[in-house]
Amino acid sequence: MSRFVVENAEDTKLLAQTIAKYLRSGDLVILSGDLGTGKTVFARALLASMGVKEVVTSPTFVLVKSYQGVIPIDHIDIYRIYDPDELDILCIGDLLEDGHAVVIEWGERAIGLLGPSYIQITFERLESEISIDEEVAGAAKRFVTVDFNGPRFRDRARQLEAEIETIWSVA
Ligand SMILES: Nc1ncnc2c1ncn2[C@@H]1O[C@H](COP(=O)(O)OP(=O)(O)OP(=O)(O)O)[C@@H](O)[C@H]1O
Ligand SMILES: [Mg+2]
Repeated sequence: MSRFVVENAEDTKLLAQTIAKYLRSGDLVILSGDLGTGKTVFARALLASMGVKEVVTSPTFVLVKSYQGVIPIDHIDIYRIYDPDELDILCIGDLLEDGHAVVIEWGERAIGLLGPSYIQITFERLESEISIDEEVAGAAKRFVTVDFNGPRFRDRARQLEAEIETIWSVA
């Protein structure tokens, strides 16, 4: 697990680009954090880094948006879903089995339902003195935690963590 501070939205995008290099077919990425902490900013940069050319819109209302990059990749937002039966309807497990990489905002609600292996990235606000305008413009620092779970990432976790440590000072 790595925990560090990203300086602003550009830095969050750099993190997404860094992680994207390590993603493969069938990987599950869970994005956690309060409203407006940067999950969609991260997801957009991740998808762009994985070769998705079209504009990635927030999937808050459509829930699942599927894209084709270097691999098929789905961007999912389950903010409005609490019931595990409702989550079942989205057939996320099938997408993973079909070789899609899957990125889920508010995805901590799916932990335990989609197998033991996932990368969880958590965004947290720091106490900061910046104005709302600067915050919206992307100037806020965030604590970020990158956590690898399950056997699937065992071979990649150490290498990615080492790369993260060359860019951010890990607590
Ligand atoms: N370090 C940062 N990283 C990412 N976004 C930042 C950062 N600092 C400020 N921001 C701003 O915070 C907002 C993040 O919005 P975003 O839609 O990505 O959040 P979210 O976590 O997806 O929210 P929701 O839970 O509503 O889906 C944007 O306005 C962005 O400019
Ligand atoms: Mg979002």
